[in-house]
Amino acid sequence: MNLGLSNRRVLVTGGNSGLGAAISKAFAAEGARVAINYLLNPTEAERLVEEFTAAGGEALGLMADISDPEAVETMFGAMDSAWGGIDILVNNAGIDGGYALGWEADPDAWGRVVDINLKGTYLCAREALKRMVVQRSGVVLNTTSVHEVIAWSGYSAYAASKAAVSMMSKSLAQEAAPHGVRVLCIAPGAIRTPINQAVWQDAEGYRDLLTKIPLGRIGEPEDVANVVVMLASDAAGYMTGTTVFVDGGMTDYPSFAHGG
Ligand code: BGC
Repeated sequence: MNLGLSNRRVLVTGGNSGLGAAISKAFAAEGARVAINYLLNPTEAERLVEEFTAAGGEALGLMADISDPEAVETMFGAMDSAWGGIDILVNNAGIDGGYALGWEADPDAWGRVVDINLKGTYLCAREALKRMVVQRSGVVLNTTSVHEVIAWSGYSAYAASKAAVSMMSKSLAQEAAPHGVRVLCIAPGAIRTPINQAVWQDAEGYRDLLTKIPLGRIGEPEDVANVVVMLASDAAGYMTGTTVFVDGGMTDYPSFAHGG
């Protein structure tokens, strides 16, 4: 694809693993400058930075806990110093917190999911928007999930945080639109990444998962990354304040293909 993203300054949170790594690679392949935020596994972040620079691109690795306001400010300051600001933020970092029924969950662990997925997404969006409204251009893409609309037993914090990110994004999109800045959500379904490895590596779990996906296959990280780069580009210049689902039809209620 040539989406006109050459030299755009991109920050991908959690950009060193799973969906984030695929998204970072997709932007690098489009000639964008890519800052890879990470909290864990610095080696993989450094490896990607080397890969992108060896291919002639520009890349940065930025360690920060996105739920920490000071760390987030410092991270955006580093982008200011290196590249004079930001054009595209992909809020990708997130955790599911692990399975726990609501009445059995540890409140601190529950809160940590919200801290990272909602507050962390907000803190990064805040820093990005501060800069984008001034330059009167930019795109913020927030990663939600099919669980912004599908309830999920054992993952109430995760589902709640993703629904909240969706409504936060719509509100931020209203605020930012008059300044020429777009805010969108991308909602992946079941994608083959470390977050759900236990499910797709287990034969029975995988069979069950496929019954939930009309297109009959688990998604690959590139299925999401391809859409992310398009949404971040001017090809999607008339889109804001909405969620794009990349889920193989998971939100199409496959259990209603028969009966009802
Ligand atoms: C979760 C995955 C899950 C998928 C579909 C995603 O948001 O991170 O673990 O497989 O939703 O349920």
